[in-house]
Amino acid sequence: MKAIVAVDQKWAIGKDGGLLVRLPGDMKNFRRLTTGNVVIMGRKTLESMPGGKPLPDRETWVLTRNEAYEAPCRVFRDIRSLLDEVRTLEDEYGGEGYAVYVCGGANVYAQLLPYCDEALVTKIGATFPADSWFPDLDMNPDWELVSESEPLEDGGIRYRFCTYRKTVLPSA
Ligand SMILES: NC(=O)c1ccc[n+]([C@@H]2O[C@H](COP(=O)([O-])OP(=O)(O)OC[C@H]3O[C@@H](n4cnc5c(N)ncnc54)[C@H](OP(=O)(O)O)[C@@H]3O)[C@@H](O)[C@H]2O)c1
Repeated sequence: MKAIVAVDQKWAIGKDGGLLVRLPGDMKNFRRLTTGNVVIMGRKTLESMPGGKPLPDRETWVLTRNEAYEAPCRVFRDIRSLLDEVRTLEDEYGGEGYAVYVCGGANVYAQLLPYCDEALVTKIGATFPADSWFPDLDMNPDWELVSESEPLEDGGIRYRFCTYRKTVLPSA
């Protein structure tokens, strides 16, 4: 399982339920990577999507503790049942032909990062007012930066696509 996230220089990811900034190049990269795959997100992130709906052309799994919550996608009420389903997928396909991306927000990243082996981090070269953060992987010895793109730019904002890999096996 991989986490995918866009962070600013202080590892901030959101403010008032929305993203910090819209970078078309980053959105395109997110679409390219996640299309045809499974995307996991918290109820708040799902509701921040256009129209509050799952993104097209990928399978969305949403987490909520609200038993009455309904959404046009798969709904999980706890992390354990979601992880069981990820494991079933892995057993079925042997890790081939699909990928499972943890897509936020802060609450869900914090709970699922221990189960991820890779984090695809768009590092934005700016800081923004924020109220949600991703764990700082540069400060975490369990993670190492393994690749980094050349700097890209959208609307005067610079960013890089970075890949972090876990140095220890993910939690079972
Ligand atoms: N920069 C990025 O790449 C990026 C990506 C995604 C999101 N974001 C930002 O992150 C912010 C939202 O993050 P957030 O932390 O407030 O919300 P979130 O993680 O999207 O959703 C939190 C909700 O998920 C459900 N949930 C969490 N853990 C659960 C569990 N163990 N079992 C069952 N349900 C669980 C709960 O829903 P209920 O309340 O319904 O029970 C909880 O309130 C927004 O600003 C968004 O724009 C940024």
